[in-house]
Amino acid sequence: MKGIILHGGYGTRLRPLTYARPKQLLPIANIPMSQYGLISLKNAGITDVAVIIGGDNSQKVKDYYGNGEKFGVNISYVTQDEPKGISHAIGLCESFIGNEKFVVFLGDNILLKEITESVKDFEKSDYDAKILLCEVSNPSQFGIADVDGNGMIKKIMEKPKNPPTNLAVIGIYFLTPVIFGIIKKLKPSWRNELEITDALQMLLESNHKISYDTITKYWKDTGTVDDIIDANKTILENMTPVFEGKKDDGVTINGKIIVGKNSMIKKGVSITGPVLIGDNCVIEGVSKIGPNVSVGNNAHIQNCTIEDSIVMDGVTIDCKITLSKSIVSYNSRITWKGEKSSIIVCEDSKLEL
Ligand code: DAU
Repeated sequence: MKGIILHGGYGTRLRPLTYARPKQLLPIANIPMSQYGLISLKNAGITDVAVIIGGDNSQKVKDYYGNGEKFGVNISYVTQDEPKGISHAIGLCESFIGNEKFVVFLGDNILLKEITESVKDFEKSDYDAKILLCEVSNPSQFGIADVDGNGMIKKIMEKPKNPPTNLAVIGIYFLTPVIFGIIKKLKPSWRNELEITDALQMLLESNHKISYDTITKYWKDTGTVDDIIDANKTILENMTPVFEGKKDDGVTINGKIIVGKNSMIKKGVSITGPVLIGDNCVIEGVSKIGPNVSVGNNAHIQNCTIEDSIVMDGVTIDCKITLSKSIVSYNSRITWKGEKSSIIVCEDSKLEL
């Protein structure tokens, strides 16, 4: 089987973070969110993967993943000129897929469950598609499925106003090349996209069968900052603690922590896990880090409190500040200047002081 990862779209709800890079490259527990999808595909034995890219920053996706060798997979890139929909993106991969069954992974979906069993089941089944469903409390915000109680899908619709169930269609689709003929017949939806849900519904209406598995472990479509912070927390909670750095006496550590190579935790610092600190960091002064904090590589943090937050590579924070539910992007600096603050805030930034 082959794989497709969707890495296009504009990521408008995550501006300004998405001005500099595609949303799917934003780090969750210090690795790009799309890498979780790539790892899932690889763990399921899928190593031929097409990555759909689009927009100004797509070169950054190529720079990071390259030909896939570093990640144990072969990556081909497919350019989507505009985000015309998930089905449109899949349609661009027809020649890459050939006659094989395949799995599509939306690059902004994070889930704890491995997909290996679902891949195996689909590989040996006669069904034309399989989807994964997860119960949600806000069904109007997702693709929604109605099921027949025997493991088969009855109906699928996109973000319905009056959802018949609370079973969201998550962003991992098991498909066969039959879908390409269907996609060619699709019309753009109200949001001017070729919807995957419309393609699946058309598949059902042409007497094809779609099975499903239900996900009970964690799943998140990381559309907003709160979603990203929540996914970060969950991934951190599930990591194995490793301490490869150095720490002074007089450091207080509670809970699960991961500290990378050459990182130094100095006297007076208190860490409450789960916390992940990358390589070559210095944490010092009266700093309280955690819970649910990831810090990238080469960060320098002193005299602040950080909880439920993501701090990316190369950040400097030297300031008596408490950051909560915050995302501090690459190479940013937050330092104390005196009674009057001097800030450079980029377009669409959000500061709640
Ligand atoms: O996350 C699950 C949901 O994903 C499903 O329940 C919905 O049925 C499905 O339509 C989709 O809904 P979203 O509104 O969340 O899709 P979004 O526009 O966020 O796009 C999903 C991913 O695919 C995102 O990583 C961007 C990428 N994408 C999107 C479009 C429209 C592309 O690469 N190209 C595109 O043209």
